[in-house]
Amino acid sequence: MRIKTFEEYQTAYKQSVDDPEGFWAEVAQQFKWRKPWKKVLSWDFNEATTKWYEGGEMNITENALDRHLEEKGNQIAIIWEPNDPGDEAVRITYSVLHDRVCRFANVLKKHGVKKGDRVCIYLPMVPELTVAVLACARIGAVHSVVFGGFSAKSIADRINDSACTMVITSDGAYRGNKVIPMKETVDNALDLCSTVKNVIVMTRTRTPVSMLKGRDLWWEEEVKHVDSVCPAEPMDAEDTLFILYTSGSTGKPKGVVHTCGGYMIFATYTFANVFQYEPGEIHFCTADIGWITGHSYIVYGPLCYGATSVIFEGVPTFPDAGRLWQIVEKHKVNILYTAPTAIRSLMSFGLQYVKDHDLSSLTKLGSVGEPINEEAWQWFKQNIGGSHCPLVDTWWQTETGGIMISPLAGITPEKPTYATLPLPGIQPVLVDESGNVIEGNDVSGNLCIKFPWPGIIRTTYGDHERCKQTYFSTYPGMYFTGDGCLRDEDGYYRITGRVDDVLNVSGHRIGTAEVENAINMHLGVVESAVVGYPHDIKGQGIYAFIITDTKPDDAEMFRKDISATVARIIGPIAKPDKIQFVSGLPKTRSGKIMRRILRKISEHDMNNLGDTSTLLDPAVVEEIKRGAL
Ligand code: PRX
Repeated sequence: MRIKTFEEYQTAYKQSVDDPEGFWAEVAQQFKWRKPWKKVLSWDFNEATTKWYEGGEMNITENALDRHLEEKGNQIAIIWEPNDPGDEAVRITYSVLHDRVCRFANVLKKHGVKKGDRVCIYLPMVPELTVAVLACARIGAVHSVVFGGFSAKSIADRINDSACTMVITSDGAYRGNKVIPMKETVDNALDLCSTVKNVIVMTRTRTPVSMLKGRDLWWEEEVKHVDSVCPAEPMDAEDTLFILYTSGSTGKPKGVVHTCGGYMIFATYTFANVFQYEPGEIHFCTADIGWITGHSYIVYGPLCYGATSVIFEGVPTFPDAGRLWQIVEKHKVNILYTAPTAIRSLMSFGLQYVKDHDLSSLTKLGSVGEPINEEAWQWFKQNIGGSHCPLVDTWWQTETGGIMISPLAGITPEKPTYATLPLPGIQPVLVDESGNVIEGNDVSGNLCIKFPWPGIIRTTYGDHERCKQTYFSTYPGMYFTGDGCLRDEDGYYRITGRVDDVLNVSGHRIGTAEVENAINMHLGVVESAVVGYPHDIKGQGIYAFIITDTKPDDAEMFRKDISATVARIIGPIAKPDKIQFVSGLPKTRSGKIMRRILRKISEHDMNNLGDTSTLLDPAVVEEIKRGAL
């Protein structure tokens, strides 16, 4: 499965394009299947359908756990680093993890969870999160992990969209010096839901919680009374493994559906190759398991490959900005995979936090989630990687399941800020606004993928039409990523950012429409328009232009109130960084908001607003310019 040289990469790439089915069949043979597949691939992008390894029977947990027991039973699968550096880290071997997953799977079964049922998981970054995820997979239940920073309303929307019957949560969560209520948030969410029969609550902070008789159960009690044997449910490769909600340019977040076989193959193959994982290495991905990066590169990819994966509960700045480096030193981390936002933020604290720590264990670095600027790239490479560690800038999405364009560490020649070359099996194309494919090098356009790969999104939960519309209709016959991209003279790819109305704030994907809908629910707000603007640390900040029914008496207080509404409806990650009150918005005669103009104003690029003559009321632009923050 591992490519070792650039020549091997080139050969593998060519083979994957010439004979995709042969290529992916060969990769898949290295996994444990109960029954072989009947057909490697069938697809029709016009209908947004892709099926990999159909008829094949397997269970991802047999690949992530059982398969390793004989040779690696005593190897550490998970190192858990708690929020407080003074608390002891926990090391969990493959055999103990197997035992815990089987027990918890039996708890789920005991409470009536069956294959195909949806289970919502809302937990902090504790080992139980991985146990819960794998326990669902063990019995064929579909997990829907919701990031711990989302509000009760966001949780409720996600539970309702997929009719979850069970929620798994904790009493509270530690994040830096804060204790965050989790169960209480779930309780508030459940006031808006009717499908949930049980809530399992794990004890983390011993925050007082209300436990509803007949519905709520303590994790610790439940696992005492079950068996540690739980045969894995046989799953068809195309059975759903999980749903993960993500934001788009319109409406509510959609449930991206991934299936068992293809996702497993793709997450594992990309993990092994991009990070060039060597046996015994310690892999530390700083993402939260609530996002796709955590699913693929903390849980499934590393465990299916028999690696040791670090789970970190806290934040990079607690107790100080040296925390990540302290973890690297303490656990002798070899591979560090993080986000540009974290790098930029830690950079701003200065090198003294780095110098105190021995980072010599590091062999490879990775970046994900947003474009990495050259300064951050160089700082990471030089000061953290000691200039000798390969640095892989990995481009991919919730919908792709795994890394799509990235160097293979130490193999692909690097170029700062470039995701470089597509992985084997990935066929990127650039297209212009009219959908014409742009050939040749030194060009830029919208990034599409013209051939399926095993980790591709299968559908958006409960609404296949939406999947078709969002990804496969803009450029018929191709998967559209929503990203802009350039291909340089060497054929290297550099992702420049979203070309749709999706923001990337600190690596978190947020739809402008979602934020606007939340703002518009606030008393006194008539209308709003949200755009992203360049932010030194977050990559993008959220800039909201808001029309109110009367001029606010205390503008500052009103801003805070609006932020509180957004935090309540979506979560604190979606709070606007800047709010400008305006009397009108630049609209075309047909009533469409000209976001292009607002984006320019938010960037203070006032002289390049383009043609404003087609606006309903050009004077409004002058007013907005004068009030720009
Ligand atoms: O715009 C791209 C950006 O993040 C988007 C996907 O977000 P999400 O589904 O939340 O997944 C994030 C983690 C995989 C993409 O459409 N993005 C992700 N990685 C990069 C990136 N932009 C530039 N460079 C990257 N390496």
